[in-house]
Amino acid sequence: AIDIKTLYSDFGHFTYDPGFTSTASCRSDITFIDGDEGVLLYRGYPIEQLAEKSSFLEVSYLLLNGELPDKNELADFTRSITVHTMVNESLKNFFDGFHYNAHPMAMLTAVVSSLSAFYHESIDINDPDSRTLCAHRIIAKMPTIAAAAFKHLVGEPFVYPLNRLSYSGNLLNMLFSRPSEEYEISPIAEKALDQLLILHADHEQNASTSTVRLAGSTGTNPFAAIASGCAALWGPAHGGANEAVLRMLEEIGDASRVEKYIAKAKDKDDPFRLMGFGHRVYKNYDPRATIIRKTCHEVLDDLGMANDPKLELAMKLEDIALKDDYFVERKLYPNVDFYSGLIYKALGIPTQFFTVLFALGRTPGWIAQWTEMVEDKEQRIGRPRQVYTGAARRDYVPLDKR
Ligand code: ACO
Repeated sequence: AIDIKTLYSDFGHFTYDPGFTSTASCRSDITFIDGDEGVLLYRGYPIEQLAEKSSFLEVSYLLLNGELPDKNELADFTRSITVHTMVNESLKNFFDGFHYNAHPMAMLTAVVSSLSAFYHESIDINDPDSRTLCAHRIIAKMPTIAAAAFKHLVGEPFVYPLNRLSYSGNLLNMLFSRPSEEYEISPIAEKALDQLLILHADHEQNASTSTVRLAGSTGTNPFAAIASGCAALWGPAHGGANEAVLRMLEEIGDASRVEKYIAKAKDKDDPFRLMGFGHRVYKNYDPRATIIRKTCHEVLDDLGMANDPKLELAMKLEDIALKDDYFVERKLYPNVDFYSGLIYKALGIPTQFFTVLFALGRTPGWIAQWTEMVEDKEQRIGRPRQVYTGAARRDYVPLDKR
């Protein structure tokens, strides 16, 4: 007889860890988080220093290569990224197939996945040069694909990449310039966007990165693995929270209604959660939220929007929640997504598009983690086990006997 294990006591030291709260799936040299102290380091460098002094491309190089580049290395890397910004013309046809109001994350996920149809036979994941080329291609093409999804959403013609611009400047130009008008890139918007991308660039084994690793562990096409990361990021418990925060602020509408929504968030019979609050690892203020909060005030000040009612609402919500026993006891603090949407909104980006920008920022992290996984000799196919709780062995009963 086959002995099927059904009781928890049958499993001995078998680990049951739904949500992987205490299971390390890999070793990694890339990102360090101390959730109790609110510390985040990329390759050892504090996020605060990188956000203030570095650029998104330099941080991408750091995540991929382990060290900050010297001048020549940064120039070579920038050149390689700008060389690969174009996508195959036929990729445009994919966008024609989408309904006019398709969610941009649906378009991004599908079109990133389609890159695997353009780059497959030519990729050798066991060859370091081939892996580097994949990494540069995905970092370079993400803004082009993201901007095409944006233009499809707003019903305007696509804008081609302009390689003389910075990474974030080029992105803004592809999003906002129109053939009929002069578009001047605002240095405030360029700097703020670049900083937001830096803050999102990696966050160790979060849901989307773990998805990229799990998919990649089978040896699948790296663009397909990154597309699976986009899909995982989309959910409101992860990257989709930035969109959900703005929708929540719109729903609350007025500072006088904040208490009502705090009460809803505390009510266990109500599925409502305070979006942009709480984090699996940070049980202290998310260090990225501290930086974004400051930038949010600066950007809105610079744009003459210091009295934006949504900013006031967000601050009141934060203020009340941080003094409330429910949030204090559970160590629920604002996370990276609480203020990012307010900055995106101020830059003229539609709410539906926020998570696409998160995906763009997370791309160097995903591909750096994929590269590390492929190079790790200890890495095997990711294959979680389960605790079976279903029926024990039984015999098939013919239909007329049931
Ligand atoms: N509002 C109200 N209560 C909350 C919230 C919230 N935002 N977050 C957690 N809680 C409560 C839970 O109900 C639970 O209470 P209980 O102990 O009485 O049952 C307790 O805090 C612990 O929450 P869990 O869901 O067990 O925590 P977990 O680590 O699984 O979830 C998560 C973390 C998903 C981020 C959660 O805090 C959440 O849903 N937050 C809102 C969505 C969000 O902002 N996501 C973005 C995360 S950051 C990122 O991905 C970039």
